[in-house]
Amino acid sequence: MVQAHIHYATDFYSGACRNSFSRINGIMIQAEQEAHNNFIALSRLIPEHAEVFRRLSELERRHREGFAACGHHLHVTPDLKFAEHFFAGLHHAFQNAAITQQIATCLLIQILGIECFASTLHENYIPVADDFARQVTESTFRDKYSHFNLCESWLKLQFKDIKDELKAANRQVLPTICCMLHHLGSDAQAIGMNPESLIEDFFVQYDETLSQVGFNARDILRMLSCALATNNADSSYNSCRSGVRKIRLCSP
Ligand code: FE2
Repeated sequence: MVQAHIHYATDFYSGACRNSFSRINGIMIQAEQEAHNNFIALSRLIPEHAEVFRRLSELERRHREGFAACGHHLHVTPDLKFAEHFFAGLHHAFQNAAITQQIATCLLIQILGIECFASTLHENYIPVADDFARQVTESTFRDKYSHFNLCESWLKLQFKDIKDELKAANRQVLPTICCMLHHLGSDAQAIGMNPESLIEDFFVQYDETLSQVGFNARDILRMLSCALATNNADSSYNSCRSGVRKIRLCSP
């Protein structure tokens, strides 16, 4: 059957656009997969909330299916290999924290690296998406509040005891997230998004999230400048940089 080409503001049928969208779609799918895995791990790390975390992991599985359907709808194959490398830095940082029972670090990676990052991407994707993907993305975006609540309220409740751990975790993962946002830029632009808005929106969410957890404005500014001044020697940052570069060099 010959498929009719529907013309949206963004031409998802042009070659360059399809190439970029295969990576963006892969990133959206992989973000949900990472969130799914992280909530399963959290259900074991915080057994008193196991049931809620299991429900959230199921919700993430459905989000993953939704984004897979968005690619399918446009006949684009998601570049999942690229996406897996894209998240490798945060993935390993979460795994290491889980092994050493650093629950606050795990939660910070989940809320900043996965949820803030993904919802920033969704928020910027909605205006350029086709009708089908817009509906899927809007519905996923609305669900973000249910993700945030338990993780944030746990951190808020323990805030005094875990403040230093959160600062250290932030120093470790924020450069990695900045690297991810940076590498997202050209593909985001190719499908009609504004790379600068992505960065701005991420930091608005970063600020809101950390202040809800209990940090004051001065703390947040210090955490931001301290993480950005880090010499980027952290392994999760380097894993992001070299992983994304390697995959890009290998791409046709
Ligand atoms: Fe999700």
